[in-house]
Amino acid sequence: MNGARILVVEDNDRLRRGIARALGDAGATVEQAAAGDEAIARLRSERVPFDAVVTDLRLPGAPGLEVLDAAREASATTAVLLMTAYGSIDSAVEAMRRGAFDFVQKPFELEQLELRVSRALEHGRLVREVDHLRAERAERLGAHNLIGSSDALRDAVELAQRVASSPSTVLVTGETGTGKELVAGLIHECSERSQAPFVKVNCAALPETLLESELFGHERGAFTGADRTRVGRFEQAHGGTLFLDEIGDLATTTQAKLLRVLQEREFHRLGGTRPIEVDVRIVAATNQALEDEIAAGRFREDLYFRLNVIRIQLPPLRERPEDIEVLAQHFLDHFAAEMGRPARVFGDAALRLMRSYAWPGNVRELRNAIERAVLLSEGERVDEVDLDGGPGAGAAVAEATPPWERGEWTLERVEEQLVRSALEHCDWVQKDAASRLGVSRRKLNYMIRRIGITHPSWRRNRGQGGEPEA
Ligand SMILES: Nc1ncnc2c1ncn2[C@@H]1O[C@H](COP(=O)(O)OP(=O)(O)OP(=O)(O)O)[C@@H](O)[C@H]1O
Ligand SMILES: [Mg+2]
Repeated sequence: MNGARILVVEDNDRLRRGIARALGDAGATVEQAAAGDEAIARLRSERVPFDAVVTDLRLPGAPGLEVLDAAREASATTAVLLMTAYGSIDSAVEAMRRGAFDFVQKPFELEQLELRVSRALEHGRLVREVDHLRAERAERLGAHNLIGSSDALRDAVELAQRVASSPSTVLVTGETGTGKELVAGLIHECSERSQAPFVKVNCAALPETLLESELFGHERGAFTGADRTRVGRFEQAHGGTLFLDEIGDLATTTQAKLLRVLQEREFHRLGGTRPIEVDVRIVAATNQALEDEIAAGRFREDLYFRLNVIRIQLPPLRERPEDIEVLAQHFLDHFAAEMGRPARVFGDAALRLMRSYAWPGNVRELRNAIERAVLLSEGERVDEVDLDGGPGAGAAVAEATPPWERGEWTLERVEEQLVRSALEHCDWVQKDAASRLGVSRRKLNYMIRRIGITHPSWRRNRGQGGEPEA
């Protein structure tokens, strides 16, 4: 009960003090009220809601049921426990109906009460956690908003929303950074599966055997090092959506296994004998031309047909120039707000530069360029120079002379660029960037520290995503 704030309402002084002492000894901060009206006044004036209220049903001043109502009004997360006298079971039922968490019948052992209070507190904690996760998801849902005014983007969004409710497999294609993952998330959020998990697997991030155990799980002892049973992503996504990202990078043997799962809707954990059935909606994505991969013998045609039931193709940014300005302005507002900086506008030269640039990294590159520009620009206007030094600017001049002849690029510089672009590409998830670069997380983390790269998400996610602080 450490740190929990509890209000004890009981007119019998001895009993009230006894309860307060017991809960206090268990680590709670306890406040006391000897009458109903006193408790109600307290609940209404309190700025931070109590975590729990333990109240007698029959009280001077106002009845316990009114204390209950006041507590519920003050905060939905305050758990209310009622103490009822023998024979007042009707009122107890009524109290539960009005939102009490639990009741104990007098006389009771203090230990019993303590147990129920900790259960109520634990429940409250879970409720708050769920609320928090919901809110976070809603925020992310906000981030799912695909911005753009081009017909091509609108068509893609409309198609995604239309097919969301069907169980069909969707293949999302497009160059890197065009928003494939956003579309996959949108499909999930618009489907009836939105309350169930959206599970993502990056097929390029793991070597073959690890990927199979990631997808299908394994039984204990399936291979050296498998010291406990592990549930795979397919099982985790049960009832929800499984997003298979970078599907074009799947090894041929894994392709065969995946095909079998898609056909039979069941699979085995590695080393397992029991078939596991799952209800999973598959959304796959790739920035490779799978048709070419098939022609080259690197991708199974039969798997392609299974995946390519509904195709959503996201055009590169350079083919929808009307989206550039809208997106740029959106990111400008977003990052200015996030960094607590005043709103900004683009200068004409900056706009011209953005429109003429080819954006090989598409929306991701644009987003990163704007983030940097917001950091760099001094005044209210974002100018051409502020957009310079982005990955774009580097790419634009990199063709003609080799970089070392320009005296600009040292090995160290290349390493830094590589680390940065890998991180950017993996949305700053160090684990993914490390496997992209073919180094261990430790090594990447070391490089990050040495170069001095930081990103706001690393502090936000610490503890959840397990990102070491850079
Ligand atoms: N239409 C859009 N509106 C707003 N943000 C977008 C849009 N398209 C892409 N983005 C943003 O650009 C970044 C890259 O998008 P996403 O990760 O979906 O790309 P991708 O197509 O999956 O790329 P890759 O093939 O490299 O994995 C993300 O930060 C995403 O939020
Ligand atoms: Mg992606």
